[in-house]
Amino acid sequence: MEVILLPTAADVARIAATQIASLVSAHPEATIGLATGSSPQGVYADLRRRVDTGEVSFARARGFALDEYVGLASDDPQSYRTTIDRDVVRPLGFDPARVQVPDGTATDLEAAAETYETAIATAGGIDVQILGIGANGHIGFNEPTSSFASRTRVKTLAPQTRTDNARFFPQGQEVPMHCLTQGLGTILDARRLLLVAQGPRKAAAIAAAVEGPLTAFVPGSALQLHRHATVIVDETAASELQLIDYYRHTAANKPEWQRIEPGGLA
Ligand code: GLP
Repeated sequence: MEVILLPTAADVARIAATQIASLVSAHPEATIGLATGSSPQGVYADLRRRVDTGEVSFARARGFALDEYVGLASDDPQSYRTTIDRDVVRPLGFDPARVQVPDGTATDLEAAAETYETAIATAGGIDVQILGIGANGHIGFNEPTSSFASRTRVKTLAPQTRTDNARFFPQGQEVPMHCLTQGLGTILDARRLLLVAQGPRKAAAIAAAVEGPLTAFVPGSALQLHRHATVIVDETAASELQLIDYYRHTAANKPEWQRIEPGGLA
């Protein structure tokens, strides 16, 4: 796992966006796994600037959302279908027909989950999966004790997740109890994982995912099983990491070809 420590949330967004933009510039038909939540918002905003300047185009790229609430109409402003359309598809110029979100409105949710897995496989898999992490260590909506082998399925949200996400919902509207989420096994099948985290509220989850034991109790620790996982964090999200000096040391001593920004930031 590569751990990249950066001074600010803006740096996290810029470096993550650089990595995605260079992949899509080299492979315009790349398939991107799209996370919602506040963590990747800066990444999308940074990519938007690059789209506007012509540095990169997502017109031929594909997208698969990580997860979706169950029971929200797809045009509900809080549904991840709407969120992904608003924050990613439209600003980045994806072809809407090439971006899929699990169908949380389906009457047969198990069938919808299976259809989603098939769609990802038919597209040739996910090239880079963007991830945030919940304060309880969840990735996607894989709550603690989710199996590392899990595939897209229905999950019951943890009370803490519902409380955390209530800020996105208007007063009086309850956060749904259930969701469809890519499983940890689905996420681990992506060719590359890129997790971003900012702020002190994520410090414990980051330390547990990166340095703690591999355990279903901390779903983010599944990243330790992946051959190409990158965790990009700001100083505050990194504050509980034990090997902070080592991550700085490796960054300072990288060979030039491995540097994130030529000649500069490692
Ligand atoms: C949400 C999403 C995750 C996200 C996480 C953290 O509930 N399902 O994909 O990474 O929780 O959210 P945030 O980035 O808003 O802190």
